[in-house]
Amino acid sequence: MARVYNFNAGPAALPLAVLERAQSEMLDYAGSGMSVMEMSHRSKDFAAIIEGAEANVRKLMGISDDYAVLFLQGGASMQFAMVPMNLRRPGKTADYIHTGSWSAKAIKEAKTTGSVNVIWDGKEANYMRTPATEELNLTEDAEYVHICSNETIGGIRYPTFPKTKAPLIADLSSEIMSRVIDINQFGMIYAGAQKNLGPSGLALVILRKDLIDRVPEDAPIFLRYKTHLEEKSLYNTPNTWAIYILKLVTEWLDSLGGISEIEKLNEHKAATLYEELDSSNFWHTPADRKCRSIMNVVWRLPNEDLEELFVSEAKKAGMIGLKGHRSVGGIRASIYNAVPQEAVDALVSFMRAFKAKYG
Ligand SMILES: Cc1ncc(COP(=O)(O)O)c(C=O)c1O
Repeated sequence: MARVYNFNAGPAALPLAVLERAQSEMLDYAGSGMSVMEMSHRSKDFAAIIEGAEANVRKLMGISDDYAVLFLQGGASMQFAMVPMNLRRPGKTADYIHTGSWSAKAIKEAKTTGSVNVIWDGKEANYMRTPATEELNLTEDAEYVHICSNETIGGIRYPTFPKTKAPLIADLSSEIMSRVIDINQFGMIYAGAQKNLGPSGLALVILRKDLIDRVPEDAPIFLRYKTHLEEKSLYNTPNTWAIYILKLVTEWLDSLGGISEIEKLNEHKAATLYEELDSSNFWHTPADRKCRSIMNVVWRLPNEDLEELFVSEAKKAGMIGLKGHRSVGGIRASIYNAVPQEAVDALVSFMRAFKAKYG
């Protein structure tokens, strides 16, 4: 078996132990005589899977009964639409912070259904940092404040989250369960699963229950959080396979000691990589130091030809997914929870050899 060192931004590396477990249960899940993909979403076996997945999320993240935990389809992008449809009442406005490509998409979507106030725009800083609370031009009666907690493409995150009177809503797609957060700071968080939680096509939504009744009566039934809360994420046929894998991933995380333990490992991985990047002018890291992501590490080489060569030589050495996003170029290593220290060490050794040869 030849497994690569996988630095993909998403879909991304999954824990090997999870893949092996899924493989071992593929043909006959828990004596049912079928795979999880073949069973009814209304069956007892699947009920145990979805309830187990929710219990794991609640335990790992310390989520109380004040919050709903939902498993929805349409990825994080559907949340860009559902958030304003459900939580911004007619005639009201919502505050958005623009820190890069993903927050821009959230803003664009929110504008299709109502009023948006962009209360901070990172354009002047080339989207290379996130703002402090004091810099925000908060609207007095905004329905909520939306942020992207970690910009996957730019490689920046919030060292600490803004303090706001209106409920804070965060897209945590590329850093969910990678660092300890206090859920009580947020009205809602959401994440596409395909980075730290499992397969794509599933969004984890954690929403304070008192916000659920804001939804206007003419909102489509399927797009109401209320519908999915009442039906326990089983209003229609959910992405059963992705929920099953999320359950296995959260069990794996729990077995490692939970989020506070993985956070230490993640910080160590990121420090290993940033140390090499800071050690030479051959590498250039555009992100503001305070805001550097520990999940998506972005850097440049002296020119684009060298960047292309870096990516292709890395691939020959068994390391994939290092090409920066097509919109910005450069190099990006996504080092999510399931990427081991060993992969980062191998990458740093490769970088040193590359620098010695071409620097
Ligand atoms: C921060 C962030 N938000 C949203 C998305 C969109 O997620 P999805 O493809 O699940 O809709 C991504 C995808 O990479 C992302 O990185």
